[in-house]
Amino acid sequence: MPYTVPKLTDFSESALELAVTELQRAFTEEANAVLEQSKSPRLSLVQKGNLFEEFRNRWQARKSGIATQVNDLWLREAPREGKRAAGQAVNKVRWWLEGQVPEIERNAMVLRSQTPAQRTREERLDITLPGIRRVIGAEHPVIKTMNEIVAVFRNLGYSVEEGPEVETDYYNFEALNFPPNHPARDTQDTLFIVGQEAKPLRDRLLLRTHTSPVQIRTMEKMKPPVRVVCPGKVHRNDAPDATHSPIFHQIEGLAVDTNITFCDLKGTLDHAMKALFGSSVKTRFYPSFFPFTEPSADVQISCIFCGGKGTRDGGPCRNCKASGWIELLGCGMVDPNVYGFVDYDPAKVSGFAFGMGVERIAILKYGVDDIQLFFNGDVRFLEQFG
Ligand code: PHE
Repeated sequence: MPYTVPKLTDFSESALELAVTELQRAFTEEANAVLEQSKSPRLSLVQKGNLFEEFRNRWQARKSGIATQVNDLWLREAPREGKRAAGQAVNKVRWWLEGQVPEIERNAMVLRSQTPAQRTREERLDITLPGIRRVIGAEHPVIKTMNEIVAVFRNLGYSVEEGPEVETDYYNFEALNFPPNHPARDTQDTLFIVGQEAKPLRDRLLLRTHTSPVQIRTMEKMKPPVRVVCPGKVHRNDAPDATHSPIFHQIEGLAVDTNITFCDLKGTLDHAMKALFGSSVKTRFYPSFFPFTEPSADVQISCIFCGGKGTRDGGPCRNCKASGWIELLGCGMVDPNVYGFVDYDPAKVSGFAFGMGVERIAILKYGVDDIQLFFNGDVRFLEQFG
């Protein structure tokens, strides 16, 4: 006998509880029967779909489904002193059913997502079936990290600028104070676009090797004060391995105003590193060289794996090669020569720039041991960031 909602005479809590349990038992039994039936190879997908729909309507249809009948027969009929308990029982039934029916519908969906080979031709053309819901993806860890870094600087009043990935020699090198044939160009492992030899050097196209050209583009179009971060993809002729990828991402920062000093640079980057890696992280500025900054520095942070001690688990810390420090980014005061290219007056303004590799920061933040994982599209890796 299929289940029908009983009329109640006893509205005590225990009687209501019994009625609820009985309803749940009946539902589960019927649901299992429907699932069993739906496995029959003789039924078409449309018929299976109908089976689930009928079942859903029997229990949930707004006008006369069992859930509605429960409301009518148990709550409305309850005498004044039984209303409270009846109300609770009815709510319980409704919530429980809400939770159960999607489960059944999911089963229906699995059936509908069988491969075309498993379906008949007629079924494949049934355009009345609801679509298959695609699972929502996760933000890619590189983009997620990039957004986090950008957010840190947005909070400091920086805005965001972008530039082209295919650049001219002028923006990638010359205006950044890399003269033609300067050895510093060799450090950039540049990928050049073919067939450019007929053009003057400064107009030849290449894949940008860093986001620093956006510094120049920004200063060309706005006067100081400037505070921008420039996130983007960059390219270098590097063979892929665990720590190198020919494509990666950088975020460049630039601040130009009157009276900007190295102290501002230190304070800004120290704040940013603490925001990204935790307030106990220390920073250290190490002399370095970039053609477009003078003085230049590499920024190191205290090793987040060994807390800066250089030892971990009784041995040397592998992550910082026992030094207690990890090198993270390049920076410096904008070289006055650069201002000459963008029509800024080096006697009036000063500023700093910095550039960081996004993958490198993501690797440290998430403990990833191979940069290739970011790019080969394995969902088992990516879904961990969902
Ligand atoms: N553009 C430099 C690089 O990619 C990094 C950098 C940016 C250094 C800004 C100093 C200032 O190597």
